[in-house]
Amino acid sequence: MVSRWFNWLDERLGLKSIYAVVLDRKIPKVNWAFTLGSASLFLVVLQGVTGILLTSYYVPHPDQAYDSIQYIMNEVAFGWLIRGIHHWGSSLMVIIVFVHMLRMFFLAAYKYPREFTWITGVFLLLITLGMGFTGYLLPWNQRAYWATTVGTSIVDTIPLIGPFLMEALRGGTDLSTLTLSRFYSAHIWILPAALVGLLGIHLYLVIRLGISHIPTEDE
Ligand code: HEM
Repeated sequence: MVSRWFNWLDERLGLKSIYAVVLDRKIPKVNWAFTLGSASLFLVVLQGVTGILLTSYYVPHPDQAYDSIQYIMNEVAFGWLIRGIHHWGSSLMVIIVFVHMLRMFFLAAYKYPREFTWITGVFLLLITLGMGFTGYLLPWNQRAYWATTVGTSIVDTIPLIGPFLMEALRGGTDLSTLTLSRFYSAHIWILPAALVGLLGIHLYLVIRLGISHIPTEDE
């Protein structure tokens, strides 16, 4: 019965050929370090799912942001768990993506023909850091407020465009409702959209070029 349904779908959607191209690929001799890309991918999905669940209760306004987080932690069923996973998942993601990048560096996977995979990866790392930076403000507690004050003040020190960039980030000279709205919008729309687009290219290149082998001594 199941195989009849599967064959019916396969004839129309070409499921077997998608499987053959995406998953059934030859790989060279690898080790555990080669799983870090998939671990990063898992964390992207985990952060996406838990983040979407959090938006059901979080209110991005200075008057209610802090209380809405307290509500999630104390009143919502499993809210503490979902927030906990999202909170710790963000730190883990930064570490895993960074170590994934180190594996590319030390095993020279950035060389021909994978330069573009590396370049899209660099932007993925920057976006991951940006997600962490924008998410940090959202609880709107003292730590979030002052960390973002310091973070955006650092931007201010960039020659020529620094003050402009800082005001663009803050939506004015100081942190306000506008800052929270901007960070929220960047955290749930702008950066995730950029991440998904770049990840599509990154994974397309991984599938197209295959996984590189561990370089031998004479290479
Ligand atoms: C959200 C972040 C990222 C995700 C989800 C991701 C995902 C993946 C996956 C699933 C693979 C294939 C499996 C593997 O080789 O581990 C891969 C390969 C690769 N990634 Fe990433 N990646 C990310 C960030 C980065 C970064 C920051 C860099 C470097 C700056 C990078 C550079 C590469 C390269 C060069 C390959 C090809 C490896 C090879 O052919 O041996 N990636 N990535």
